[in-house]
Amino acid sequence: MAERETWTTRIGFIFAAVGSAVGLGNIWSFPFQTGSNGGAAFLLVYLLAVFLIGFPAMLMEFVIGRRSSMNPISAFGELGYGNWSIAGALGVFTAAVTLAFYSVVGGWVISYIGGSLTGAYFGNAGAFFGAVSVGSTSVLTHAIFMAITIGIVAFGIQNGIEKATKVMIPAIIVLLLGLAAWGFTLDGAAAGYEYYLSPDFGYLAANFASIVPAAVGQAFFTLSLGFSVMIAYASYLGRDDSLPADGGAIVVVNTLVALLAGFVVFPVLFAIGAEPGSGGLGAAFVSLAGAFGQIPGGSVLGFAFFVILLLAALSSSISLLETPTSYVVDNYDYSRKQVATALGGIIWVAGIPTALSTNTLGWYNAVVFNLLLPVVVLLFAVFVGWVASDLSADEVGRGTSLDAGFATTWLWWVRIVIPVAIGLTLVLGIQSLLVRAGVLEAAVILG
Ligand code: PFF
Repeated sequence: MAERETWTTRIGFIFAAVGSAVGLGNIWSFPFQTGSNGGAAFLLVYLLAVFLIGFPAMLMEFVIGRRSSMNPISAFGELGYGNWSIAGALGVFTAAVTLAFYSVVGGWVISYIGGSLTGAYFGNAGAFFGAVSVGSTSVLTHAIFMAITIGIVAFGIQNGIEKATKVMIPAIIVLLLGLAAWGFTLDGAAAGYEYYLSPDFGYLAANFASIVPAAVGQAFFTLSLGFSVMIAYASYLGRDDSLPADGGAIVVVNTLVALLAGFVVFPVLFAIGAEPGSGGLGAAFVSLAGAFGQIPGGSVLGFAFFVILLLAALSSSISLLETPTSYVVDNYDYSRKQVATALGGIIWVAGIPTALSTNTLGWYNAVVFNLLLPVVVLLFAVFVGWVASDLSADEVGRGTSLDAGFATTWLWWVRIVIPVAIGLTLVLGIQSLLVRAGVLEAAVILG
């Protein structure tokens, strides 16, 4: 079996992890969630969730990965707790399910890049979305997106993921800054910022019980936590730099990119007087594309925006494919190219139903968001906080100048605070799945 790779540099690891975190979640869902949930009031809760819950949870996955230098399934056995490999495996499964539909949405983005060049969505944005989001076009663009993902992962950690994300992340940031500056010049800028950033505390107070779990769920998704992905990435750390420092940098950059996306999306929407609704992912595509179709220079603006979105989606999808790939490559004598291609192919097939029906896509998304992700995070928290606590506390402090008090505080946070926060999210998540399935009529638990 080939020698296990490591990241070439510390910054290489940080770029790759930022690449995983920055994705459709930041540029697409985040601005719309904020807009439809009370603006700056939601932002406040979201930021608290990211820094107080997401950041310490990221360190849980880092600790497991770096300590074991193994893929997320074998890692637990390597640490002496083979029974717990089921937790890692559930994370890997979650990554695979997520990639199945994430790649479909990535395919939509490819269609929108083409549509910006040809002007195809300018006349009727709704019809364009309908044509590219379901059916043969969607299956095809899903295949193209998956093929690019496979292509990058096949080249490995240093020559594939590290090289790709080192180009993608700066490109995303520079282009977004450019678009935000452009957005500032649009007529809708003031109204857009107002909608985005003016807090509606009344709304927050009235909906606190549903907003908090939504913010916590979004915090985990945007930081790629609960998918075993950060275990896989940290397992390629052949060095002992400070995990809290690296994690802090990743969380901060990811948050800034999300905030920046809002400074692009809202001026564009308000430039044409569109009220951003809460109609979900699909509606967001339609409303934004519709706006690009109407403002001067919209085709260039739209093209740049969808290119950014594609780069962000790809830098995330490669982490989702790398995670199952790392398991097979670590344990079986197949080449990385063979494994990435085979797994990418299987996951592509698993995603086809979601390319044929947005309702099915919604189901995949809901099961990941409401059930799989919180269960996996809960299992990791119990493992790190209660089961393997000594080695976890030791590992989190390695390579740092922080005193032992940091590790102890973190450990108790992982033992108590994270399980409570994610447990609440899970209860509400299961409830919303039951509502979706028609088993429950409405929000009964926190009605
Ligand atoms: N963090 C990505 C986003 O915000 O779009 C999505 C994601 C990537 C989730 C990788 C999970 C993951 F493992």
